[in-house]
Amino acid sequence: MRVVMLLLVLCCAKVQASDPHSFSNFALVSHPELTLDLTADFDKQQLHGFVELKLDWHHPDTRQLVLDSRDLSIEKVLGQSAEGRWLKLTHSLGEKSPTHGQALRIEFPAQFAKVRIYYHTSPQASGLQWLSKEQSSEKQQPFMYSQSQSIHARSWIPLQDTPAVRLTYQARIRTPKELLAVMGADNSANSDKDGDYFFRMPQAIPAYLIALAIGDLEFKAMSDRTGVYAEKAWLDKAVAEFSDTEQMMQVATALYGDYPWGRYDLLILPASFPFGGMENPRLSFITPTVIAGDKSLVSLIAHELAHSWSGNLVTNDSWHELWLNEGFTNYVENRIMEQVFGPERALLERQLSVQDLENDLLQLDAKDTLLITDYTGRDPDEAFTQVPYIKGMLFLQFLEQRFGRAVFDPFLKNYFQTFAFQSMNTEKFLRYMRKTLLNDPDIVSMGEVLEWLYQPGLASTFVAPASDAFKQVDQQLALWQKTGNLTELQTNSWSIHHWLHFMGQLAATVDIAQLKQLDEAFHLSQSQNAEVATAWFKVALAKNYQPALPALEQFLMQVGRRKFVVPLYQQLSQQPEHLERAKALYQKARPGYHPLTQSAVDKVLKLN
Ligand code: BES
Ligand code: ZN
Repeated sequence: MRVVMLLLVLCCAKVQASDPHSFSNFALVSHPELTLDLTADFDKQQLHGFVELKLDWHHPDTRQLVLDSRDLSIEKVLGQSAEGRWLKLTHSLGEKSPTHGQALRIEFPAQFAKVRIYYHTSPQASGLQWLSKEQSSEKQQPFMYSQSQSIHARSWIPLQDTPAVRLTYQARIRTPKELLAVMGADNSANSDKDGDYFFRMPQAIPAYLIALAIGDLEFKAMSDRTGVYAEKAWLDKAVAEFSDTEQMMQVATALYGDYPWGRYDLLILPASFPFGGMENPRLSFITPTVIAGDKSLVSLIAHELAHSWSGNLVTNDSWHELWLNEGFTNYVENRIMEQVFGPERALLERQLSVQDLENDLLQLDAKDTLLITDYTGRDPDEAFTQVPYIKGMLFLQFLEQRFGRAVFDPFLKNYFQTFAFQSMNTEKFLRYMRKTLLNDPDIVSMGEVLEWLYQPGLASTFVAPASDAFKQVDQQLALWQKTGNLTELQTNSWSIHHWLHFMGQLAATVDIAQLKQLDEAFHLSQSQNAEVATAWFKVALAKNYQPALPALEQFLMQVGRRKFVVPLYQQLSQQPEHLERAKALYQKARPGYHPLTQSAVDKVLKLN
């Protein structure tokens, strides 16, 4: 059975020609270079201008270019003929799909070298958030930013929106004079705030890594190649919180080779940013909810930095293969954390991730617990779970433990070098492993590898990480519950990680009186750590502990990170006595949420 599976895997390898989440005909014609010229109109909440695409034709008969688009208004399409003349071209928009947008088809009389598309975006663009000045941190100036992963670049640029192909770009962005524009690119041409900004991205990247933000931003350097862009309110706090970024870069380059992108800066976004972080090249986008004041949540920076190798350099070729981005990145993240903050903290973080994965595994269909998940016909964003992240990481940790770091570290370094600036899929990775790593079945057998790669759930060779620290927390929790004596909890020596583990055990064991006791002693409803607060609110809701509700509502008014917000609304909506309150709250909070958070919560509260 396993041999048959292996044969199937090896002989079906082929050049990938399509991506189920893209309309584009990239196998026939592609656009290796893109030029953007856009103006940000905050009154209309739109970007307008043009994109120019340099075209590479791969088949002699092709005369049509198919791009992805979503809620774009196409004004005019011009093509440049071989003699250099610009001609108007005919174009049409395909049928609208709620998850994929629309195909934009452009007809050419011959294989032109360039096409230029004049267009504007819609205020509802799924990949942009427009914030009024009241919604910014400083409340003086408006803010806008993009979030293109997974398939939202098409909502602000008509292009081939697939991670299977790459492009370089340059851009000119015009903004109101008081604002600064930044992109995940070389920002160095912009020394003054003058409303006219130029960018260059000389390394080829997939479309989902194109990123833009505009706001009342200031910059502070952390080292000669790292720094922070933020609104004033966050700038110094962020610089202090993330002061280990340079060291993280040194650790990662020692393990995996030179940092290929030049600078590594951080951009702190408003709290409505729907993710923890986004690995836009040269400029990771970061939620302010990880600025906890004690560096307890900085593994997020290690994670986004790690994507500089896994994801940005070697890229999953479709969203089904997301584990090649996120699983590898979680593995590298944990290696960075181990070097910078010590093995104990890295172990606790691994153990917490396994708990998150186990919770997800309980709820998922078996087919969604495979490393390679079939998201055809689904919005890839909504199908994301802990599986590609944590199961992917655990697979690499399994290999690391069996082969030892002396073998596994150079293997991974060579993998990043061999496939730099290329797209990757599991079959290709397996072929590479067979060639360069899997040469002794006594160390790791093919059957063991195939079980991780192609079977649901956790593999039989998984060894759960276990720490004494969490064992002690469990013992203290049991003692407190037996004696009712809070001093059994030795919280003085607890880090955020101990607290998070503690919270994870609570729902199954406590009653309301005990929650009250905890809240009074440790002010958990008021926790300034967003992870702890969310974990606490989840327990409070599960037990219907009412005193936490005002703080929960305040939290949901301020924070729009999907990982926190969506499960909390989910829990609220499951309790009839909270549902109406949740709907009323959401009505107030919704305008401040990102379109992706809005559509996820709309679904939870059945508003569409
Ligand atoms: N690339 C992801 C964010 C992402 C994933 C955006 C899928 C859109 C679709 C980013 O690197 C990430 O994984 N962020 C995590 C944080 C991380 C520490 C697990 C997040 O946002 O929570
Ligand atoms: Zn990631």
